[in-house]
Amino acid sequence: MDNILKNKEYYNIVKDILESNEFQKRKSFKHHNDSVYVHSLKVSYYSYALAKKIHANYKNCAIAGLLHDFYDKPWQNNKEKKPFFKQHGFTHANEASINAQKIYPQYMNKIIINSIKRHMFPLNIVPPKYVEGIIITTIDKIVSLDVLLHPLSLYKYIGLKENSRLINSIRKNYLIFVMLLYRIV
Ligand SMILES: [Fe+2]
Ligand SMILES: [Fe+2]
Repeated sequence: MDNILKNKEYYNIVKDILESNEFQKRKSFKHHNDSVYVHSLKVSYYSYALAKKIHANYKNCAIAGLLHDFYDKPWQNNKEKKPFFKQHGFTHANEASINAQKIYPQYMNKIIINSIKRHMFPLNIVPPKYVEGIIITTIDKIVSLDVLLHPLSLYKYIGLKENSRLINSIRKNYLIFVMLLYRIV
């Protein structure tokens, strides 16, 4: 983390957003096993670094990475019951793009907005339109690999709450599922 902020060129691109009150609030938003602040900083920096390597627009990648999960409120506190396709995993990319345009309009352009809005591809079926968006969605998944590679953590990626009925039923039947798989293989 400290190493990331030691990169002067990168830091100069993101510092105003990073130090703003609104972004600092993300230190208290939980994101898988990190905070939204830490997760977004990692996605932003690694996307910036990859964009530099392949000669894509690294400034757009740094900003879009930082704001790709910039939804309004911590979703875990939302008690409202929602249909499956309205769960956080399916809706937050669009929410983040609206919120980013509202709070940081001076940083927005069509590449950044599209990269934020489409970062949940393929869970959201429309892919990113620009190479910078493909970088963001790829790096986001690499940074989230601990969750994506663990079958019992996948619900976090979709945005289902830990105690939801669906998750409890998957947990209860997981052993049976593995045993069946073992028989089949
Ligand atoms: Fe996301
Ligand atoms: Fe993310």
